[in-house]
Amino acid sequence: MQVSKPLVLASVALASFSCLAQASEKTGAAQAEPAAAASRVAATPPMGWNSWNFFARKVTEQDIRNAADQMVATGMKDAGYIYINIDDTWEGERDSSGVLHTNSKFPDMKALADYVHSKGLRLGIYSGPGTKTCAGYAASLDHEAQDAQMYASWGIDYLKYDLCSFRTDVMGAKAPNDEAEQMRMMVAAYDKMGKALKAAGRPIVYSLCQYGWDAPWEWAPALGGNLWRTTGDVQANWGSIYNIINQQAGLAKYAGPGHWNDPDMLEVGNGRLTLAENRSHFSMWAMLAAPLLAGNDLPNMKPEIKAILTNSDVIAIDQDELGHQASHIYSDGEVDVWSRPLSGGAMAVAVLNAGSDRVATHPFHLSLSKLGLHGAQKGKDLWSGQEVTLTDDMPIELKSHDTLLVRIASAK
Ligand code: GLA
Repeated sequence: MQVSKPLVLASVALASFSCLAQASEKTGAAQAEPAAAASRVAATPPMGWNSWNFFARKVTEQDIRNAADQMVATGMKDAGYIYINIDDTWEGERDSSGVLHTNSKFPDMKALADYVHSKGLRLGIYSGPGTKTCAGYAASLDHEAQDAQMYASWGIDYLKYDLCSFRTDVMGAKAPNDEAEQMRMMVAAYDKMGKALKAAGRPIVYSLCQYGWDAPWEWAPALGGNLWRTTGDVQANWGSIYNIINQQAGLAKYAGPGHWNDPDMLEVGNGRLTLAENRSHFSMWAMLAAPLLAGNDLPNMKPEIKAILTNSDVIAIDQDELGHQASHIYSDGEVDVWSRPLSGGAMAVAVLNAGSDRVATHPFHLSLSKLGLHGAQKGKDLWSGQEVTLTDDMPIELKSHDTLLVRIASAK
């Protein structure tokens, strides 16, 4: 349909969500690769769930089993969410042979991996290059090969490797006054684990978590990194999410199949984000070809949150096979316009209102020419499901912090 009057987004109900997010290893033959294993690791941005944003330090094996169960029961697995990732606090102590044991919250990692695999899902784990993880548990310094082999023997499919104490243990201790040397040490540490994972002989997604220091997008792919954090930790509030979105401008050219910018995990359904904010968060992560790692309370997921996380049209933007991340095209006042090319000559356009409401008196006006488009463009509003036609200078009303996300089938 031709839009001749202001396009009004679906009304936004404010919703508050509870924020609970405060925060005998056994080895055996490597589990056969899950059936869905791609020949290429992370050919599209990894999708799954990670324990940190909701459970933080409290996570237990039972929570991971429940997450796997819920991934299937809620339809999230069918929507593409495959990885169940254990974050920090699973680690116990090393024995005299250097073997790292799990702590009492995770009595049997191999059995847990088998369980997760039996659901057609994959299991992720967490460590770091220092002596300690961010939560103060044992990390992998000087045990990289041993740990990588153990992960492979358990059947681990994904490793998040978090810098943390390496900063003080190694970088600060060995080169206190030489920042460039510190960065070389950091890169070498990530290279070491990259090689150890390769040598372990199991396809394991390698996720670098060093908060975007020293432009990891320039060096991480060469050492086998499948994704690298581009920023500090995300929080379940709009300020944090919008700040992270802005830090992604200019990074599009570094993303592609097998190697992705990671603006951190999803907070959809956490904290006091409004529905508009949850939609915008998810829209922009899809535009950014970001890993989609949900971090919410899956057994108690509200229907409106499930609807956001399982919107197949939005997920298809994220998972587009070309893997072209969105670029920031222009801003007009408090409204930001991003676009990304999609396979088959399609294009996704996101119009995000970072300010207060834009109502009929002063709607935002879209510039097609700034998007490189000429004439009316037929598309689909991916949140309302309605067909839309974008025209030059068309007025668009946007609720505060809401996003109009349109897929143009054949961009001209
Ligand atoms: C760091 C990471 C978080 C999380 C915690 C765990 O802060 O950035 O994503 O993994 O450590 O301790």
